Amino acid sequence: MNNAELYQKSNTLQKRDALQCLEEYVKKIKWKYDGDRVIDIGCGDGSVTSSILKKFLPYNYKNLVGCDISEKMVKYAIDHHATDRTNFSVLDIEGILPDELRENFDHAFSFYALHWIKHQEAAFTNIYRLLAQGGDCLLIFLGHMPVFDVYRILARNSRWSYWLKDVNRFVSPYHDSQNPEKDIKRMMTTIGFTGVEVHCVEKSFIYTSVEALKKAVNAVSPFKIPAEMQDGFLEDYVKIVRDMQLIDHVNNNINHVNIRTNYNLLIVYGKK
Ligand SMILES: C[S@@+](CC[C@H](N)C(=O)[O-])C[C@H]1O[C@@H](n2cnc3c(N)ncnc32)[C@H](O)[C@@H]1O
Repeated sequence: MNNAELYQKSNTLQKRDALQCLEEYVKKIKWKYDGDRVIDIGCGDGSVTSSILKKFLPYNYKNLVGCDISEKMVKYAIDHHATDRTNFSVLDIEGILPDELRENFDHAFSFYALHWIKHQEAAFTNIYRLLAQGGDCLLIFLGHMPVFDVYRILARNSRWSYWLKDVNRFVSPYHDSQNPEKDIKRMMTTIGFTGVEVHCVEKSFIYTSVEALKKAVNAVSPFKIPAEMQDGFLEDYVKIVRDMQLIDHVNNNINHVNIRTNYNLLIVYGKK
C-alpha cells in the first residue's frame, strides 16, 4: 500500500467519502480564522489533502501538513502537491511523537488511515498531543468492511496462507466490533478529548467492472505478494467475492456487472 501512482488512480471510494464527510461534518470544526494550523494524518499520495481538504480550510489558514508513515507516499505527495503553505512529512502516528509537533496544530484530520493502526490508544493519544488547547479533530476510517472477510478467507487457502500469515494486522480493529461507537468514545474520553461524537454510517459503493475492483484491491493491498503471483491473487479474490454473491450481472449480461460493497464508515469528532 505504498505505491502512490497506483493508489491515486484507484481511490474513487476514498475520495468520495472524504468529500461527503467534509461537506456534512466540517461545520463542527471550530476555525480560528486567524492562521489555523492543520494536519492530515495518513495523507497517502496527498491528493485528498490538497484537492479536497484544502478547499474546506479558511482562506487565511497558516499551514497544512500531510503526514504518512510511508516515505514513498510522502515523497510523491511533496513532488505533486507541496506549495508555500502545504507540506508533507513522514510520521508514524502510533510511534513516538517528536517534541516539536506537540500542540502544534489547531485541527487534525484523517481519512481512511486509522483502521490500519493496531495500537488505537497510542494513535489517538498522539492526535490529542498534536492538538493545541481548544483544537479539534475530524477523523474517518473503516469499521466493518467485506474486504477484510475476503482477506481472512484467502489467508486460509494454502496458496496464500504464507503471504497472508499476518492477515489480522490489516483488518480494521472495529471490523468485528459490536459497538464501535461506544468503544471509540470511551477510549477518546479517557485520553482527555471532550465533545466526542462517533457516528457509524452505513455506506455502499458499486464497482461496475471486475477490472475496477481488481485495481482498487491492488491499490490498497498490504500484502507483499510476489509480482508474478499478483494476477492469481486478484483472480482468487474475485472468486471469493463471487461466492459471497456480491456480483450482480446487469440485464443478465455476462460482461456488465455491478459489484456491491456495503461497509461501515466511522466518523469521529473530538475537541481538546
Ligand atoms: C488508504 S490510504 C489513505 C490516504 C489518504 N488519506 C486518502 O484518503 O486517500 C492510508 C494511508 O495511511 C498510511 N498509514 C498507515 N499506517 C500509518 C501510521 N501508523 N502512521 C501514519 N500513516 C499511516 C498509509 O501509509 C497510507 O498511505
